[in-house]
Amino acid sequence: APDIAVANVKAHLNELQSIATANGGNRAHGRPGYLASVTYVKNLLDAAGFTTQQQSFTYGGATGYNLIADWPGGDTADTLMIGSHLDSVSAGPGINDNGSGSAANLEVALTVARSGFRPARHLRFGWWGAEELGLRGSTAYVNSLSSAQKAAITGYLNFDMVASPNPGYFLYDGDDSDNTGSGPGPAGSAQIEQTLAAYFSSIGVPTRGTDFDGRSDYGPFIANGIPAGGIFTGAEGRKTAAQVELWGGTTGAFDPCYHRACDTISNINDTALDRNADAIASTVWALAEDGGTPPG
Ligand code: PHE
Ligand code: CA
Ligand code: ZN
Ligand code: ZN
Ligand code: ZN
Repeated sequence: APDIAVANVKAHLNELQSIATANGGNRAHGRPGYLASVTYVKNLLDAAGFTTQQQSFTYGGATGYNLIADWPGGDTADTLMIGSHLDSVSAGPGINDNGSGSAANLEVALTVARSGFRPARHLRFGWWGAEELGLRGSTAYVNSLSSAQKAAITGYLNFDMVASPNPGYFLYDGDDSDNTGSGPGPAGSAQIEQTLAAYFSSIGVPTRGTDFDGRSDYGPFIANGIPAGGIFTGAEGRKTAAQVELWGGTTGAFDPCYHRACDTISNINDTALDRNADAIASTVWALAEDGGTPPG
């Protein structure tokens, strides 16, 4: 798979920060900074050759938006979906939560286009609205699908907080191997977790499992039997001494600015962002070829 240029991911994050700054300091559901974020992502994807749809929904008296971007080609009955929430809380600009996953997925999508990737499976990317108010956009999307359309989504990758300033490298524990009680997920979730794990193993970075409990936009997918997986670098939880041994950093919160005004462009660990963007690309390339040899 191609190496993702972390400078490009950073440029998207700088743009999301500028959008928040110009719109009252946030990119929250129902606020102008949210729609400006959607427009930024949509314009880049349209120019790259994606087929995009802006899906509206209503929550809390405000209109929300999901952005769905299809990469033409591949078996649409065997669709691999890659998603992230694009909204922030109202308290701040949401650059780690979840500019990070949104910007990494955007650059992976643009890299798909630039490299002319024509995988066996169909690729669809999603940027969700109103996650912070209870997974509202991803739930509206899944609920909008017919049974046949749901069955055609054969895997979902979710990236929510992938550049925490004091990062851990957690994979959603879809096989319930190290987190008894919050899994296993739908059959196929284990393959996703193992494909992500193989990338981290290849770069010598240890990973650990994290609860597969639906605390992000993969929730409505697994509730409908769709296999899922993802990466998480930690939120309000604190890194233990054992985890400092494993990953470095400090025994404080993974993200001390979680859901706060200080979740700005300064709240990003560039090494975690780089590793995770590359892990996303590696996993998309491997899974989209259905186990075949990815190009690049
Ligand atoms: N969904 C949480 C939020 O946006 C973050 C989170 C992601 C927590 C993944 C746990 C696992 O605030
Ligand atoms: Ca890289
Ligand atoms: Zn989040
Ligand atoms: Zn959040
Ligand atoms: Zn596991």
